[in-house]
Amino acid sequence: MRAALTAITDELRRLKTTGVKTVTVSDESVAALRRVVASRRSGFTPDTKSAAPLAMSRVKPDLRPIPVAARPAPVSTGTPIPPPPTVVLPTGDKQTRWNALLALVQNDAVCRSHVRPGKKVVLGVGNVDAKIMFVGEAPGAEEEVQGEPFVGPAGQLLTKMIQAMGLQRAEVYIGNIMNWRPEMATAPGAGQVGNRPPTEDEMRYCLPYLRAQIEVVNPDLLVALGTTAAQGLLGFGSFKAIGEIRGQWREFAGKPLMVTYHPSYILRNQSNRSKRMIWEDLLKVMERAAMPISDKQRGFFLSK
Ligand code: URA
Repeated sequence: MRAALTAITDELRRLKTTGVKTVTVSDESVAALRRVVASRRSGFTPDTKSAAPLAMSRVKPDLRPIPVAARPAPVSTGTPIPPPPTVVLPTGDKQTRWNALLALVQNDAVCRSHVRPGKKVVLGVGNVDAKIMFVGEAPGAEEEVQGEPFVGPAGQLLTKMIQAMGLQRAEVYIGNIMNWRPEMATAPGAGQVGNRPPTEDEMRYCLPYLRAQIEVVNPDLLVALGTTAAQGLLGFGSFKAIGEIRGQWREFAGKPLMVTYHPSYILRNQSNRSKRMIWEDLLKVMERAAMPISDKQRGFFLSK
């Protein structure tokens, strides 16, 4: 892998010397590169030595919660979003109902109209008998290619967080507020670069699909990952900054809801202190789910 990265860097340097100023990279290639970089640096491993990469160890992390107002504006592409759908599922076992829900979402004309050619509408993934359901924001570049939530860098980190809890990814359920990647204007022929938070209308449209997943899976507990997930579940304007409500139990659809930071917060602040904040929220989830917690787990990320 190192050799492949070196070859890419060399080629980019060579192109630069020939006067090339821009190169077009497909979403798939960006996704593959991000996966390599993430696997090299984004640990949620409770190992104090590897907690912060060398280059960051001299930088004081910015641990202030990101105020809602400071996030990129959720600007839509202008397509009006119709009223939310009414989701009616067949009777039957959980898997039958979930399969029907998947078909509904994948055939939803509004969802489809927001997905670029070759990209996918994304429903949640995981165990339909899960006790814990994580809720994120929206699919990103990798998710809309694979059609699965949390498979990019933030997803790999979420998987490590789940493993630190003593669970496997396949034992929990992972969903998103949104079923499509919120579009941004892109140069003709180029793939979308970056993400924007969904608008209130976009979230309102997709929410019935999330409610339906909660109804089918019927988890004991929900965990909202980040500001957008918390806004989607608790309502726009229900808090100013996620720091105000993270670590607290709320309620959604009759289920206890823990609000914590999005894993991408750790990708930006790879310090034990920021990992510990999320970890403390997850310890509360483990306690409420009556999961065994070892002394070792209780002490994860305590050192500075
Ligand atoms: N971030 C999210 O909130 N959801 C995903 O599926 C991927 C990244």
